[in-house]
Amino acid sequence: MNDYEIVKVQARQVFDSRANPTVEVDVTLACGAVGRGTVPSGASTGIYEALELRDGGKELGGKSVRKAIKNIETELAPALLNRNALHQAELDQMMIALDGTPNKSRLGANAILGCSMAVAHAAANAKEEPLFRYLGGANAKTIPVPMIQIIGGGAHAVGSIDIQDFLVIPLRFKSFEEGFAAVVNVYNAAKKVFTKTGRPLAIADEGGFWPTNFTSNEEGLALLTESIRLAGYEPGVDIGIALDIASSEFYDKDKGTYKLSLENLELTSAEFVDLLCGWVEKYPIISIEDGCSELDWEGSVLLTQKLGRKIQLIGDDLFTTNIQRIRTGVERGACNSVLIKMNQIGTITETLDAIEYTKNSGYLPVISARSGETEDSTIVHLAIATNAGQLKVGSVARSERTVKWNEAIRMEELLGDEGVYLGGDIFNRVIKS
Ligand code: PGA
Ligand code: ZN
Repeated sequence: MNDYEIVKVQARQVFDSRANPTVEVDVTLACGAVGRGTVPSGASTGIYEALELRDGGKELGGKSVRKAIKNIETELAPALLNRNALHQAELDQMMIALDGTPNKSRLGANAILGCSMAVAHAAANAKEEPLFRYLGGANAKTIPVPMIQIIGGGAHAVGSIDIQDFLVIPLRFKSFEEGFAAVVNVYNAAKKVFTKTGRPLAIADEGGFWPTNFTSNEEGLALLTESIRLAGYEPGVDIGIALDIASSEFYDKDKGTYKLSLENLELTSAEFVDLLCGWVEKYPIISIEDGCSELDWEGSVLLTQKLGRKIQLIGDDLFTTNIQRIRTGVERGACNSVLIKMNQIGTITETLDAIEYTKNSGYLPVISARSGETEDSTIVHLAIATNAGQLKVGSVARSERTVKWNEAIRMEELLGDEGVYLGGDIFNRVIKS
């Protein structure tokens, strides 16, 4: 028997950081190595994402994943048994073919991804290599620049503000560890700013502060800039601001308008693009994600024409880690970066392919967690393996977030002199002015 032969696949229902059920898979190899994959889950999911299979019955509000587990037990596990875990691409392709649908809706992208992640971890463990080294080979060396949430709104703090994420990116720091520490200082400064203005310190889904009593969305930008200053950093020089607008959440597809309920505003696509451009003029914003809706290609192209040489423009719901959609974006000139989420597409191989396609297109990949997360830190290794350069995980609080950041600190230590950390220079690849 080959050391790398899969001898056991065990699936179970566990829970994520939002108390929702999710899929976890353990794969055991003949040599005794075990790999585990625990699948994340989004709240502001794009309509073009691969299907997350949930039961829809009475158990756990319809969110249980028993069907996905059963699909692993009855179809995916038997197909994986006795196969060589080193053949990741072949096994992923086999699972895609077994599902047979374009969006993994028969077996569930959560069922397939859990197996795919567990196989990769088992193979890396069998080879006694960190996952990033196993997936990326000898040239895997770039520790990602973190994009970190300070205030969480939108679908992650329901009923608060329309914009989903107010984040910061450390720019002028020599290492991940230093950059991360600077963001922790900003987080603690934001705590003081919230307290000073009489706001309760509630926490949104990804560990950032819940924006209570805001009168406008722009207030988040002012508050963030103040927090960067209070922490002793120069906004835009030491630390930049990033936004995830997640605008598909408040786009009226029948009217083609953007509805900001906090301000009682309804804007056309062109007006909304102008609003974002105004914010970029006024605040040290270095990155905007999903500025326009997943259905509004014209808006995304217009925004890119206006800002695409000045700041990073990321497509998340717009691209859903799907090469066909990224290709359309590149052809039409929408965005200059792609958010990469494993469960939007459903296998490790397709995720690696999407990252490669993104880089070959001259776009920047940003590896990302979901709002519903677990103790799984696969994405940190994915970022290093592919030299993607950026990682978005939510805030610096809550263990499902820190498990990723702490793993990045450890991997930076492990790589030592071999490691590369680009800091703000990562943006030189897309920013031309
Ligand atoms: P989600 O949010 O995981 O709820 O989709 C993250 C994001 O939009 O980037
Ligand atoms: Zn997003």
